[in-house]
Amino acid sequence: MHTLATLSQDYHGSVFSNPTVLAAGILGVSASSLANVIRNGAGAVTTKSVGPAARAGHPNPVVIATDGYLLNAVGLSNPGAEASVEELAAAVRGCSAPVIASVFGSTAQEFADVVRVLDAAKPAFFEANISCPNVGSEFGRPFGTDSAAAAKVVEEIKGETATPLIVKLSPNVPDLVEIAKAVCAAGADMLCAINTVGPGMLIDLAARRPVLANRSGGLSGPAIKPIAVRCVYDLYRAVDVPIIGTGGISTGKDAAEMIMAGASLVGIGSAVYYRGIDVFAKVARELDAFMQEHGYAGIGQLRGCAHDA
Ligand SMILES: Cc1cc2nc3c(=O)[nH]c(=O)nc-3n(C[C@H](O)[C@H](O)[C@H](O)COP(=O)(O)O)c2cc1C
Repeated sequence: MHTLATLSQDYHGSVFSNPTVLAAGILGVSASSLANVIRNGAGAVTTKSVGPAARAGHPNPVVIATDGYLLNAVGLSNPGAEASVEELAAAVRGCSAPVIASVFGSTAQEFADVVRVLDAAKPAFFEANISCPNVGSEFGRPFGTDSAAAAKVVEEIKGETATPLIVKLSPNVPDLVEIAKAVCAAGADMLCAINTVGPGMLIDLAARRPVLANRSGGLSGPAIKPIAVRCVYDLYRAVDVPIIGTGGISTGKDAAEMIMAGASLVGIGSAVYYRGIDVFAKVARELDAFMQEHGYAGIGQLRGCAHDA
């Protein structure tokens, strides 16, 4: 009998009861919020990105939701590593699924400094956010778009911790595969693709100005799924590490498509807005139903099968 148990996978000693993963930045860093996401069916959760020092982020409005996409320019608001470590430890203790700690910095050394502080909380994984598109050249762009700089971030973090490392990639580059190969050669254990696309802009016709206070922001949600699927497809052919396919996943069929492209796990962010907090349970159930209907015995049979033809 085909059960939800066929959705379970094990990576680096962590059990993911199903492939859905809360994407970074969507539901904060608080232990109660992350545990609630797991109660609502997530196979794992990622925190909001934490940096070296407290940061207010951009002024409101920071998120716009439309039928087909979200635009956000949150601007990496966070309380800083020292102020986050206790809450992260509470989240790790209180969550019955892997907790992925997302980190950022403005230098490779800063990434490592944040990891050193947060390692005390014993997250299952770190995720290096080298790819935020809405903070200009301050964070993200220098690392996410340059393979040597991206590799340096991985080397510095790896020098600091034995906790497995996920690197979150930007789609906004001419050659994603080159950057992926560089971070894998430097020791990345997994990849997450993709962060938001753009930045994009929406103009308020009556006010005759951009809606976001930051003017532009990262594009996410259903509109970016084809880009995310193509990125994961390219990465699967180029690297051997597991990939968290993220971008526009809202349904079980979206998840199946992403896994066929080569993802092992699927990140879900904007769909929390479209389908509610229990989107994780819904996507897992729908994926299971799809697999049952089409005779897939486990995720392993589905993963990468779009490459076979
Ligand atoms: C409001 C908002 C905040 C986000 N904050 C972060 C963040 O702090 N760190 C990060 O790596 N990605 C962040 N992201 C990107 C998401 O984790 C994800 O990569 C992207 O939204 C694509 O997935 P989706 O289409 O399922 O939302 C954010 C996205 C949104 C919509």
